[in-house]
Amino acid sequence: MIEHIEGAADAALVRVAAAATADEVRALEAELLGKRGPFAGFKSGLAGLATVDEKRSAGQAVNDATAAVAEGLDLRRRELAKAERATQLAAERIDLTEVMTRPRRGHAHVVTQAWERLEDVFIGLGFQIAEGQHVETDWYNFEALNMPRDHPARSMHDTFYVQHGEEGEPGSTVLRTHTSPVQIRVMQTVPPPIYMVMPGRVFRNETTDATHLAVFHQLEGLVIDRGITLADLAGTIESFTKAFFGADFGSRLRPSYFPFTEPSAEFDIQTPSGQWLELGGCGMVHPNVLRAGGLDPEEWSGFAFGFGIDRMAKERHAIADVREMYSNDLRFLEQF
Ligand code: DAH
Repeated sequence: MIEHIEGAADAALVRVAAAATADEVRALEAELLGKRGPFAGFKSGLAGLATVDEKRSAGQAVNDATAAVAEGLDLRRRELAKAERATQLAAERIDLTEVMTRPRRGHAHVVTQAWERLEDVFIGLGFQIAEGQHVETDWYNFEALNMPRDHPARSMHDTFYVQHGEEGEPGSTVLRTHTSPVQIRVMQTVPPPIYMVMPGRVFRNETTDATHLAVFHQLEGLVIDRGITLADLAGTIESFTKAFFGADFGSRLRPSYFPFTEPSAEFDIQTPSGQWLELGGCGMVHPNVLRAGGLDPEEWSGFAFGFGIDRMAKERHAIADVREMYSNDLRFLEQF
């Protein structure tokens, strides 16, 4: 009988080890250790044995077999639970290295870069920086710059007007059309000598195209001191050109007209290949402008210049269309 018991236990353990799910283990447990199971059968069979010794050793064998099978079931249950947990973990695994791909690193806009480099160059030449305001009065934007109403030069400045409340006289407030009004504000507040550049945003009410924007940026320069001459202006433009573009670049002044300077000039830069590029306007500050700034033209003289920052960025990077710079297309902007 003992052999039968041990054989039944071995067979039972083989089946238990083969159980593939927790449900199968539960079913086997009921079948093997239940009231109708083989070991229950052996137990009731003990009564039919002849001797007490036989009963005792067979009884021991049944107990051992039952315990071994119970242990086997328990072991298999734990194995299956562990495997199930491993599968679940694998399924629910989140690859953080995948989610956290390198975040895109931003950088200054191509026009901001030009603006900051220009400031650096002028600071290097001994200039200070001032900024004015976007909304200006007609007086600062035009009148004080020797452009009274009806002055023909005004027609070149297609102007956005700002209406502010009832009392504001129509046409008296504008979005500044250039950075030149900051010259006046600086003269009124900073005692000379003045060596100042004034970068900022300006506005023109005109249709945009590849070389024109309605909102763009200029850099204004103003020097006021005693005995300043046109030679100082030419020398400053030349130093700036070499510092900003490179030692192999040159500059020239061409006679021109601006209401706020006399004489006036346009300044061009020459590329190493010999090509001339028109860059901006300049001249000796007109006595009327000095007076508007509260300075005595007998005592002080100076020069001013102004050019477009966006234009500089465009030329520097050979950008075909200025509008591209403001399309906010990262594929475009990331190039700079
Ligand atoms: N304000 C002029 C413009 O927007 C540029 C300019 C020309 C500025 C000559 C100046 C200057 O300071 O002297 O077209």
